[in-house]
Amino acid sequence: MGDQPFDLIPKQLFFPEEAPFSKEQKSWLSGYFAGLQSKLADNDSAQKVQLKPVHVFYGTQTGNSESVCQDIESSAASFGLQANMRALDEVEAADLLEMERVLIVCSTYGEGEMPDNAELFWEAVRAPDMPRLENTHFSVLALGDTSYDEFCEAGKLIDLRLEQLGAKRIAPRVDCDVDYEDPAAQWIETVLPEISKFGSEAPTAGVPEAGLQGKSGKAATTRSKWNRKTPYSSVVQANRRLSGAGSAKEIVHYEMALGDSGITYEAGDALGVMPINNPDLVTQMIRELNASDDTDIDGRSLAETLTHGLEISTPTKDFLRALSERAGDDELERLVSNGDREQQDDFLWSKDTLDLLRLYPAAKFSAQEFTALMKPLQHRAYSISSSPKAAPDAIHLTIATVMYHSHDRDHRGVCSGFLRDRDQGLDSAGIFVQPNKNYRLPEDSDAPVIMVGPGTGIAPFRAFLQDRAASGAKGKNWLFFGDQHKEHDYIYEEELVGWQKDGVLTKLDTAFSRDQAEKIYVQTRMAENSKELYAWLEEGGYFYVCGDATRMAKDVDQALINLIAKESGKDEENAIAYVNKLKKEKRYLRDVY
Ligand SMILES: Cc1cc2nc3c(=O)[nH]c(=O)nc-3n(C[C@H](O)[C@H](O)[C@H](O)COP(=O)(O)OP(=O)(O)OC[C@H]3O[C@@H](n4cnc5c(N)ncnc54)[C@H](O)[C@@H]3O)c2cc1C
Ligand SMILES: NC(=O)c1ccc[n+]([C@@H]2O[C@H](COP(=O)([O-])OP(=O)(O)OC[C@H]3O[C@@H](n4cnc5c(N)ncnc54)[C@H](OP(=O)(O)O)[C@@H]3O)[C@@H](O)[C@H]2O)c1
Ligand SMILES: Cc1cc2nc3c(=O)[nH]c(=O)nc-3n(C[C@H](O)[C@H](O)[C@H](O)COP(=O)(O)O)c2cc1C
Repeated sequence: MGDQPFDLIPKQLFFPEEAPFSKEQKSWLSGYFAGLQSKLADNDSAQKVQLKPVHVFYGTQTGNSESVCQDIESSAASFGLQANMRALDEVEAADLLEMERVLIVCSTYGEGEMPDNAELFWEAVRAPDMPRLENTHFSVLALGDTSYDEFCEAGKLIDLRLEQLGAKRIAPRVDCDVDYEDPAAQWIETVLPEISKFGSEAPTAGVPEAGLQGKSGKAATTRSKWNRKTPYSSVVQANRRLSGAGSAKEIVHYEMALGDSGITYEAGDALGVMPINNPDLVTQMIRELNASDDTDIDGRSLAETLTHGLEISTPTKDFLRALSERAGDDELERLVSNGDREQQDDFLWSKDTLDLLRLYPAAKFSAQEFTALMKPLQHRAYSISSSPKAAPDAIHLTIATVMYHSHDRDHRGVCSGFLRDRDQGLDSAGIFVQPNKNYRLPEDSDAPVIMVGPGTGIAPFRAFLQDRAASGAKGKNWLFFGDQHKEHDYIYEEELVGWQKDGVLTKLDTAFSRDQAEKIYVQTRMAENSKELYAWLEEGGYFYVCGDATRMAKDVDQALINLIAKESGKDEENAIAYVNKLKKEKRYLRDVY
């Protein structure tokens, strides 16, 4: 054995530009390290391999960014690096000054906003007094979705801010659309060898703990074999309408059988459901295009492509632009070219792609042109409404069917409609679990839990309550639930009242918005109970919110700040600081959409 710690590692590891690694080489290296580790384990006097630290941070709402970081963690040792992986809000801005190699993967939420667990980081680094980061080398991978106006905005902002602070970008930012896996893998292959060339941050003693497994300090995650690309075909073993016949909405309870899939889940996780487009809609669209079912689209029939491959309902920006170019309609052309998003949204409300084809018959598209303007069909996420402790063999979902009538047709949401209309011969659906490690019950089962979940936002809280009931957790539970009318929309009423009787649900406050002249919302109930709610927080309570992101979650956030200010005597600034502390301690958690 040589004098230098790196002598144990093949020379080319540190000269990756001379030998970029193929999958086979990585696999060989993986075996090499595993062997090396076992040799070292056998030899107490062996000098330890030393790896250079790389700090790998994720900002995520539904786990994609975290999963990319796990891939970095798994490959880092192949490049002589040891990944130190954390959520962005676990990073103290001051500590960044000491970090010389930083990789950031961050998604965008809301309308161009940071995901919840990147918010505090962003507040800190954007501050005018943030110290400069001259010694930091970095690269950013931004996850997003081109259907949003502010595509990958959070990643773009972080990337720009680090540059402004003097940090050195070692590889350009990559912005990923919904199919992020391939560009993310390419980015990892670029940045790991590149970043290993920079910085002098002290090597870490010790070899990777399990071959090339990461050392994030968290329990190693075993990835399910069922994912976005390979969903498990689950039988929908039960469905039951929850909302009453007089309700303005249809909320349905589904149970997706897990069969022999080996799928495991936890309360707080979401389920990805892969829809199939409505066959009637596909038929009407093919007719409108003047094409036939078997028209060839890159080796697949048009019918197959429209049914399984593409988002055919929500018009894409590319389709709208092409439509305006061909329709010969001045008003449409003005609307599309003036860039007024609000006006465009108003115009598009209640119109799907087929409506637009019919409204502008002068715009002609060949089947190939039309399909090239569509985006790939995506899964939809649903907050799981069961706990494995109560439902080990099936995953429960609580879904509001998107349904409306316009332009002489019944319109259905792609996925909520697909699940609802399965009786057209479709009795199973492709599913996969989207773990949400950031949305869990407190580890301390004695800690009080406050849950705010109007409408379908109740889903994860039914799971939490099932979980706490099954485990006999002693902690108090308080649910704020609401919807339009008590008579029609009080979903899961029997279960909730039962848990109240059993003492599992310590407090239950409901807000039925349309049962009286003035609107009563969940935050009205929070304000009415401000003293007690603040007391629960002071006792170490956890505050959870689920449901509508655009209005409800923002108003609940403000109501929380207001009640803290009122009950503690703090001014608004200090009440916000109190809320930020809750976020930092992971006692204020949101699952909003
Ligand atoms: C993490 C997460 C968890 C979620 N959990 C749940 C859950 O537990 N339960 C749940 O029901 N949903 C949940 N959702 C929302 C869910 O993922 C889907 O977005 C929802 O079911 C709609 O999908 P769809 O395919 O049925 O509709 P789509 O085909 O995607 O259509 C939705 C679009 O239809 C349009 N639209 C909707 N209503 C109308 C109307 N009345 N008139 C005109 N246009 C309209 C809007 O443009 C809307 O964006 C969650 C989302 C996320 C991200
Ligand atoms: N992204 C998507 O495609 C998608 C699909 C489905 C649902 N969602 C979102 O998920 C949400 C859940 O839908 P849902 O039908 O279950 O419930 P919802 O629309 O959120 O309604 C539940 C209750 O919340 C009330 N509410 C309205 N505005 C509020 C506010 N600012 N603060 C607090 N409460 C408010 C409603 O009252 P009123 O109705 O009387 O005002 C109703 O009583 C929807 O609002 C929607 O934004 C999104
Ligand atoms: C409610 C919601 C809002 C979103 N808003 C944006 C947005 O404004 N801009 C964008 O580029 N992507 C947006 N996205 C897409 C996500 O960034 C994308 O799905 C990403 O892969 C999620 O990664 P994560 O699981 O790490 O959070 C949004 C997704 C959801 C569900």
